[in-house]
Amino acid sequence: MVAGSLQELVQLARVAAQNAYAPYSHFRVGAAILCKDGSVFVGSNVENRSFGLTICAERSAIVAAVAQGRRDFVDMAIIGLDADDPLPPCGACRQVITEFFLPEACIHFAGLDGKVKSVKLSELLPYDSLHDQFR
Ligand code: THU
Repeated sequence: MVAGSLQELVQLARVAAQNAYAPYSHFRVGAAILCKDGSVFVGSNVENRSFGLTICAERSAIVAAVAQGRRDFVDMAIIGLDADDPLPPCGACRQVITEFFLPEACIHFAGLDGKVKSVKLSELLPYDSLHDQFR
């Protein structure tokens, strides 16, 4: 999968959200990560009847990409198909995103109306705990 524009990245996140497994919350989320060469890795939320085991779309996309040997991430688009407003990542996902994305990376929250809010990762998770400790 490849994307040449933010709209295409959002569209791939939207398609991934349609594959969400969300029988408990009925809240479908998709995420699409853009890599340096234009390739894209997607994820959707995957819930579990033991609710705490649910995996968010953002982490599912990261895990899919890393498992295929990719970590050259540029930015990420997120869309919630059942959300009223553009959906920012949850706190747990922000922590995991900082493991692989630069603080300057943009995280794009896409609304269903096509509008996108783009926020720098360093603004989403300031005072990033242990950021320099293990580098
Ligand atoms: N969810 C995500 O996949 N990403 C977010 O950023 C927020 C929440 C999922 C988890 C759960 O399956 C459902 O949305 C409701 O919280």
